[in-house]
Amino acid sequence: MSKPMTRRGFIQQAAAGSAAITWMSAGQAPSLFAAEAAKPALLGGTPVHPGGWPTWPTWSESWEPAVLKVLRSRKWFRGSGETVAEFEAAYANLLGAKRCLATASGTTALLVALHVMDVDAGDEVIVSPYTFIATYNVILINKALPVFADTDPATLTMDPASIESRITDRTRAILPVHIYGMPCDMDPINALAKKHKLAVVEDACQAWLAEYKGQKCGTLGDLGCFSFQESKHLPAGEGGAVTGNSDELIDRCTSFHNCGRACGSFKGDKPYFTRGSNYRMQHFQAALLTQQLDKLVRDTAVRRENADYLTAQLRQIPGIQPVRLPENSRAVWHLYPFRYDSRQFSGLSRDKFIRALNAEGIPASSVYHEMYFDGLIDEAINSRGYKKLFSAERLKAYRDSLQELKGNRLVCQTTVAVTQNLLLAERGDLDHIIEAIGKIHAHSAALAKAA
Ligand SMILES: Cc1ncc(COP(=O)(O)O)c(C=O)c1O
Repeated sequence: MSKPMTRRGFIQQAAAGSAAITWMSAGQAPSLFAAEAAKPALLGGTPVHPGGWPTWPTWSESWEPAVLKVLRSRKWFRGSGETVAEFEAAYANLLGAKRCLATASGTTALLVALHVMDVDAGDEVIVSPYTFIATYNVILINKALPVFADTDPATLTMDPASIESRITDRTRAILPVHIYGMPCDMDPINALAKKHKLAVVEDACQAWLAEYKGQKCGTLGDLGCFSFQESKHLPAGEGGAVTGNSDELIDRCTSFHNCGRACGSFKGDKPYFTRGSNYRMQHFQAALLTQQLDKLVRDTAVRRENADYLTAQLRQIPGIQPVRLPENSRAVWHLYPFRYDSRQFSGLSRDKFIRALNAEGIPASSVYHEMYFDGLIDEAINSRGYKKLFSAERLKAYRDSLQELKGNRLVCQTTVAVTQNLLLAERGDLDHIIEAIGKIHAHSAALAKAA
């Protein structure tokens, strides 16, 4: 892989059926892969990557004393110890946010943020459709309507140009999602929010340390929400956070997440003067998280370097389109996605491409589909509550509008992604991802024909 092939060169080689072999022989040593004449593993050849990948999550013995300290302190409830507050201060500092509130999960962080930004029953929230299902659910749980902006197929994030036409007199907030840790184009989103007096809550659940124009994701809107679930780059099994630069907003968040008890500037003359729930983080979670912050910074640098390498190599393969990031932004790659064009692979379907990739020892998947057709939206809008809150005309127009998300449909049909732990592998292993895709490309006609 020492000498990258040009896109035109690749096309010529692939046409001759030997692209993958030539691809390999640009390196120093001829490999078993070349000797096997690069027969796809799905057709009985040898997998490009027979070994494993870095495991996730990881842990270190050096973390044990801090966890044991919480255990032995018997201060396990957030109200009786300092470990959660220490994490909040450290995470806010790392992000350059004024404040951070730790929560039980990313979902609860979003529930807290939407409540505090006054998203109420009968409101509408403009949201990215290309996301984990929790982003839809937190709006639905508030009895508001998730109005989907379209997805920009080049960036996989909310297309700012699709927002304004979806704003109604019920719209209360915009909820952009920095999916896979790739920042949304926040300037036009914030400008529209300002123009229409809407709140902006960032779903930064996959975007720890991602940056947009010199600022960290989670500090770009009114409030930002993070997840520390086990698969995430900063994992504690479960966990989440709300970040922001307004003391008043974070005081309100703190109160709501703690059964409505007073906090800082937010207080009434009775102990339970406001609504609230229990969305608190435990000290055990915080003990794990604080110790991983330096590692998060180190891992992020490695993932970025390796993602840049993959992008430079993969964009030379016809039919593989890496993602475009907004100007002056830096992703953190919770997954590393690219768009797949089957027309450049002899019509090999995306599902079969993924199966072929998996057979080569490269874990990859299609990730998100058009989840608004799965039933949960229909269940919500046909419920007694929604029928009371919205007119029949509005609900019908809303349901019909789901068919218009052409950009999102394309993204859901053509995206392939590998998980973040692959980006922590050695360079030689990363090369296997490129080699496997090159091999599949070279043999796409045979693979497309095979059952
Ligand atoms: C984009 C997005 N939003 C929200 C969530 C919810 O976070 P949690 O699983 O911590 O509740 C996740 C977690 O996977 C996510 O990826």
